[in-house]
Amino acid sequence: MPSAVVTTPLRIGPSVLSADFLRLGEQLSELERAGADYVHFDVMDGHFVPNISIGLPVLEATRRGTRLPIDVHLMMLEPERWVGEFAEAGADVLTFHAEATPHAFRLVEAIRHLGKDVGVAINPGTPLAMIEELLPFVDQVLLMTVNPGFGGQSFIGSMLPKVERLRTMVETVAAGCVIQVDGGINPSTIEDAVRAGATSVVAGSAVINDADSIAGNMATLRHAIKGVDVTR
Ligand code: DX5
Ligand code: ZN
Repeated sequence: MPSAVVTTPLRIGPSVLSADFLRLGEQLSELERAGADYVHFDVMDGHFVPNISIGLPVLEATRRGTRLPIDVHLMMLEPERWVGEFAEAGADVLTFHAEATPHAFRLVEAIRHLGKDVGVAINPGTPLAMIEELLPFVDQVLLMTVNPGFGGQSFIGSMLPKVERLRTMVETVAAGCVIQVDGGINPSTIEDAVRAGATSVVAGSAVINDADSIAGNMATLRHAIKGVDVTR
């Protein structure tokens, strides 16, 4: 009898944060050719996280530079003030931090109303309980596996049981919800993240670096999960 379970292959989304912004268009084309599933776009406000990154004009340029879906990760306070502008500038998915707004449910509805996919993110120290009630209403949950604010940090391995627990919750109440893991993903950590339940991984410094080409780095990441069943 055919299985009723819908399986989705693992999705890899390189982070624009690691790009050479002088060559952004070129690198976006390379990402597309290398088989990136989407582009992850990190917005930092200098308040929610101790760093400032990129915003609306760079998102507009990224939109013009790629056909890939753009997954915007809003690391900012009061994200409700800005989702309209980020939607307008080219986001396909808008992920906000549950810690950054007192009205998460209202924001989920607002993003849905903008016609965009909705993601909710939590920091390493934030319990899953904070987003449990939102699960049936969002398309994606982003679990941070570094403290947000900077690329190139080490994967926090103690987050793996949290990924596993989220997987169980998703299977129970929110089938199809994407489990995205963000921070410190590289050829040595990707397998653990996927085995724990990630269905989508962000990779910045492991994809765009001086050690190898974007295509070479993407191939290395895919190779690292070759033996793992990445469909679920
Ligand atoms: C961190 C960002 C991440 C970051 C990932 O605050 O949310 O998306 O770009 O970079 P790597 O893969 O280098 O940890
Ligand atoms: Zn991110």
